[in-house]
Order: sequence, then structure tokens, then C-alpha cells
Amino acid sequence: MVYRPLTEPETQATRIGAQRSDEVVLRINNLSKQYGQRMAVNNLSLELHKGDVFGFLGPNGAGKTTTIRMVLGLITPTSGDIQILGRDLSSHRATVLPRVGALIETPALYLYMSGRDNLRAVGSVLGGVSNHRIDEILELVGLTGRQKDRVRTYSLGMKQRLGIAVSLLQDPDLVILDEPANGLDPAGIVEMRDLMHRLSSEGKTVLISSHLLTEVQQICSRVAIIAQGSLVKETTIENLIKGEGEFSVHLEKAQEALALVQRQPWGKEAQINAEGALVTLAPDGLGRNLNLFLVQAGFVPDTLTPATKDLEKIFLELTHSDSGEIH
Ligand SMILES: Nc1ncnc2c1ncn2[C@@H]1O[C@H](COP(=O)(O)OP(=O)(O)OP(=O)(O)O)[C@@H](O)[C@H]1O
Ligand SMILES: [Mg+2]
Repeated sequence: MVYRPLTEPETQATRIGAQRSDEVVLRINNLSKQYGQRMAVNNLSLELHKGDVFGFLGPNGAGKTTTIRMVLGLITPTSGDIQILGRDLSSHRATVLPRVGALIETPALYLYMSGRDNLRAVGSVLGGVSNHRIDEILELVGLTGRQKDRVRTYSLGMKQRLGIAVSLLQDPDLVILDEPANGLDPAGIVEMRDLMHRLSSEGKTVLISSHLLTEVQQICSRVAIIAQGSLVKETTIENLIKGEGEFSVHLEKAQEALALVQRQPWGKEAQINAEGALVTLAPDGLGRNLNLFLVQAGFVPDTLTPATKDLEKIFLELTHSDSGEIH
């Protein structure tokens, strides 16, 4: 049998995050916060670019809220610095902080008032928030139809979106949401994702914290993972879940195909996974060459897809490895 590879250049381009803006909206430099002996945040550096929907991910107690509180000027860092829109936070608080909208954990809402009246009430404290702006925000967060109902009657997802609406009143450039998807059902997560994409397409930059990778994966384009105050990884979601060039092939006689593939120079690491699929690298890294090879050898794949990693496994590996709990 003569196996002839196809040698066209690979055309699989990176989709998500391919056109990331160069404009840095939030820069965190070697930021640390120490409480007694405990480093709640340890030498953390991050950059958020304009339009990013950036997931800030870590298990409970990793230091997410502490970092967010420092970015909002609510607590003072032990060391390091924060720049928002190119200006140092500690020396430009008054000009910089109004450009940031935030929702920390559960939103503080007046349950006996309507959604619209909640926005009016906060708007009148902030000043300069027109009725037109309130209309726009209600539309943006998808609450126009329920704006006159009391917040008491809202679902959890609607309350979260109203909380986000409050954070948008002053038309901030940077929106920081601490665990906005906490407790939302799958439909609520989809609504949240759509809202975040709308904010991003309006040129806003969004930082979302979460302790659940699956949430962040659905909502964000980039992610930073922290554990015990330190950055573990910062990358696109696409890169995080991407397998290392392996393909997963469903086919009949998988064991026979495996034996053949393992005799090829590119297939030595091939194996059968828990679902009975053949998982292997491909000749020249191209799925179509793997397909061709199998077909020419008499194995016709039912499906052939790039293998992805198990998200929860990645997260646990990244956050639990070398976990020296501080006592
Ligand atoms: N005011 C404080 N005094 C002492 N320790 C604190 C204080 N605030 C936070 N910590 C500690 O700092 C660490 C990080 O806490 P933080 O609330 O930032 O974590 P988190 O990532 O937001 O967790 P979660 O997912 O549970 O919200 C924890 O060990 C916490 O106990
Ligand atoms: Mg927290």
C-alpha cells in the first residue's frame, strides 16, 4: 500500500482572540497582598486589553476577590502596582476609578423596588445618569420588558443582570464582575455570555472571576488561572482546551487500526480512550492525512476530530499541583 500524504499548508486559523486589541486597559504589575503570614495575592501580573472578556479563575480562597478589591482601590496592595487606562491607580484614583464599573459577589439591590427604580436610585446618587441612559442599559441587559416589576419577583439571572446594569450606569471602560455567574443555570449562563459579548463589542473590557472553569469557558475568550495567590497560567480558552495535535477517531475495528497506527513513526503514542476512540497524532499533523492513511489501510472513520482535553482535569492539575497549603 502506498500512502501519499497531502501537503497543502494547514489552514486551521485561530478563531477566538485572533484580533486582540493592543490597547492595555488594566495592567497589574507584581501585585501582592499579605494578611499576617498569608500571601492572599502573590506577585501577580496580568494585562487586559480593550475588548477582552477575561476570565479570572481560581478555586475558593485563591485570591480573586482580594485582587479585585485592590483594582477597585478598596484595599491597599502590600506591594506592586495597578494601571488603569495607562494611569497609575494610587496616584490617579479620582480620574481612574469612575472609568471602572464593578459588581462584587451578590448585587446590593432594593428588592421592593422595580428594576428601573433601582437604576434611578443609584443613578441619582452618582449624578449625571439620564433616563435615556437607563433605557439603553435596560435594553443591553435584556430587562426592558421587566423593568417595572419589583426586583423581588426576578429570577437569580435577572438580579445578576440588574446588578451588572448598576455597574454600567456611568458607562465605564472597564467592568469588573466578581462571580457574576454564581448559581446561574445553563440558560442563565448563556444570557450572561451574550451580555458579555455585547459589552465587548461596545468596546468595553470585562474581567469576570469564577471558581468554575466550565463557566469561564463558556463566557470568556481569555483566562488567567490563579491558585494560592499566584498566577498559574494565562492563555486563550482555545489554547487551554486544545489537545497537542492529537485527533480522536471513531471507527470500527479500533484495536486493529491502533496496532497499525502504532507502527507508524507519527503514531507511536496512539491509544484507545475511554469511549473506544482511537487517539493519535496525524502524519504531518494534518487530520486529512490521518483520514487518508486509515482509508487506504481499509479503515473508514465514522468521525475524526481534533482531540480536546478534559477541562475539569486541566483545572485540577493546574490548581492542585505542588499545592503546599500554608499552615
Ligand atoms: N481581610 C482579610 N484578612 C485576612 N485574610 C484574608 C482577608 N481577606 C481575604 N483573606 C484570605 O486571603 C485568601 C484569598 O481570599 P479571596 O477572598 O481573595 O479568595 P477568592 O479567590 O475570592 O475565593 P472565593 O472563590 O472563595 O471567593 C484567603 O485565604 C482568605 O482567607
Ligand atoms: Mg471571592
